[in-house]
Amino acid sequence: MWFFLILLFINTILLQAALSPADTFFKKKNCDSQCIFNKELSLESISSFPTNCSRVCTFLSLNEYSGINESKLTNLFKNVKVLIGGLSVSNTAFTSLKFLAPLEGIECSDDVGINIQNNNEMVDTGLINLKTIDCPTIFISAGFQMTGLNVPKLERITYNLSQNIGITIMAPLDTFCITPIETRKFLSTRSPSLIGIVTAYCKPKNDSKLCNTPAEGCVEIYGNVVIGPTFDMSLMKNVEAIYGCLIINGTSLSNLNAFEKLHYVAHLSNGKPAIRIENNLLLTNATFPMLKRVYSNTIDEIIFKNNSEELLLDPFLCYGLRNVLSMDNEDAPTFDGETCEQVEKSAPERNVTYMDGKSKSATMVNNFHECFDFLVSVVIFVVTQL
Ligand SMILES: *[C@@H]1O[C@H](CO)[C@@H](O)[C@H](O)[C@H]1NC(C)=O
Ligand SMILES: *[C@@H]1O[C@H](CO)[C@@H](O)[C@H](O)[C@H]1NC(C)=O
Ligand SMILES: *[C@@H]1O[C@H](CO)[C@@H](O)[C@H](O)[C@H]1NC(C)=O
Ligand SMILES: *[C@@H]1O[C@H](CO)[C@@H](O)[C@H](O)[C@H]1NC(C)=O
Ligand SMILES: *[C@@H]1O[C@H](CO)[C@@H](O)[C@H](O)[C@H]1NC(C)=O
Ligand SMILES: *[C@@H]1O[C@H](CO)[C@@H](O)[C@H](O)[C@H]1NC(C)=O
Ligand SMILES: *[C@@H]1O[C@H](CO)[C@@H](O)[C@H](O)[C@H]1NC(C)=O
Ligand SMILES: *[C@@H]1O[C@H](CO)[C@@H](O)[C@H](O)[C@H]1NC(C)=O
Repeated sequence: MWFFLILLFINTILLQAALSPADTFFKKKNCDSQCIFNKELSLESISSFPTNCSRVCTFLSLNEYSGINESKLTNLFKNVKVLIGGLSVSNTAFTSLKFLAPLEGIECSDDVGINIQNNNEMVDTGLINLKTIDCPTIFISAGFQMTGLNVPKLERITYNLSQNIGITIMAPLDTFCITPIETRKFLSTRSPSLIGIVTAYCKPKNDSKLCNTPAEGCVEIYGNVVIGPTFDMSLMKNVEAIYGCLIINGTSLSNLNAFEKLHYVAHLSNGKPAIRIENNLLLTNATFPMLKRVYSNTIDEIIFKNNSEELLLDPFLCYGLRNVLSMDNEDAPTFDGETCEQVEKSAPERNVTYMDGKSKSATMVNNFHECFDFLVSVVIFVVTQL
């Protein structure tokens, strides 16, 4: 009996040892055993790569030691449409990843993602058919030669809700730019996700939908939108995205309902807030009806200053806006220099003063009425006396 149990025990241990985390993951993903490549890709292992499979399960890692040239890789990956595992390309001399051009989808396991860095000859990714990314992290750091991402078909970035998604595009050199369309794809990633886009926009062509200045029919605006007292708010009716900052200054707006379709505001200039709302004394409701994501490369992503006092009575306005920020930032937004926590702390006391003020002005109105009544009665008295 004991012998049997011990045997069983040893057996389970052996089984567990045989099923590495990678095996477990590939099993969960229903990988065809013929299409699993659970090795490091190298000149030695290349002959066992499942070239015929369109759905390949492997943690693909190419680096300075891989020693395989681009034409060989092109042939190797010519049938790969879906990559299950992860993708890392670093320290190579590849000019792009166009050997993976047939690739349409990447599905990653929990602790890996997409990592592209230190490739000093790389001009762009060349992942021209990539549509879906189901990965917890995307990290792309551009080298000196890189001019853009070149992922024209990218549609969706997803991952299991139990994890944050982290996206970093690091390309501070002015030879590189990101298109507004690519930016929007990253911004539309579900929350929670942390997004860092350290680069500049590619200047898009001005057309009737993507405008350089607000005009009738614009759906997206590339450039800063400054709304002052005389701005025609109907121009904002169809606007879904602003690639630049949004300033609302000195208007008589009482709410932001005119931004009925605004989903994204992303300002890539360093140190500049994405949204500033200042000097709008009648603004009592500052909720954007559809806002999903606000991005800027500063800790002051959204600033409110000198608007209606009512905005300082409701900390949930501030917390709600914090939820649409792309970076995990406990200091934004600010209302007259206060963080959400500070607004929350002062709200009850402020509300008392505010309500007091209201009742005082109400009494003043009443006094005025009394005074008026008195005047009227005096007039009536005088008239009757006459
Ligand atoms: C791949 O496909 C080719 C042609 O369709 C066939 O000759 C070859 O045997 C296949 N290789 C494997 C490993 O299945
Ligand atoms: C790529 O490497 C293969 C052998 O691995 C070689 O036959 C081929 O000529 C190389 N191609 C180029 C363009 O260097
Ligand atoms: C998501 O992650 C949780 C926790 O790790 C796991 O239990 C669940 O099965 C995952 N869902 C899917 C669809 O993989
Ligand atoms: C391009 O932008 C200008 C303003 O900068 C505007 O007057 C013009 O109508 C725009 N062209 C198109 C095709 O939208
Ligand atoms: C708002 O308008 C005032 C007065 O015109 C100006 O001084 C201030 O710089 C403006 N603020 C912003 C953020 O543009
Ligand atoms: C607040 O905004 C009002 C209206 O635009 C303006 O008259 C006033 O000077 C502003 N106050 C401060 C302290 O900026
Ligand atoms: C404030 O504006 C938002 C967005 O338009 C709206 O959903 C909400 O009901 C408004 N709140 C109040 C108290 O009117
Ligand atoms: C402010 O006080 C009034 C009356 O005391 C109360 O009805 C209201 O809910 C309070 N508002 C906030 C935001 O605390």
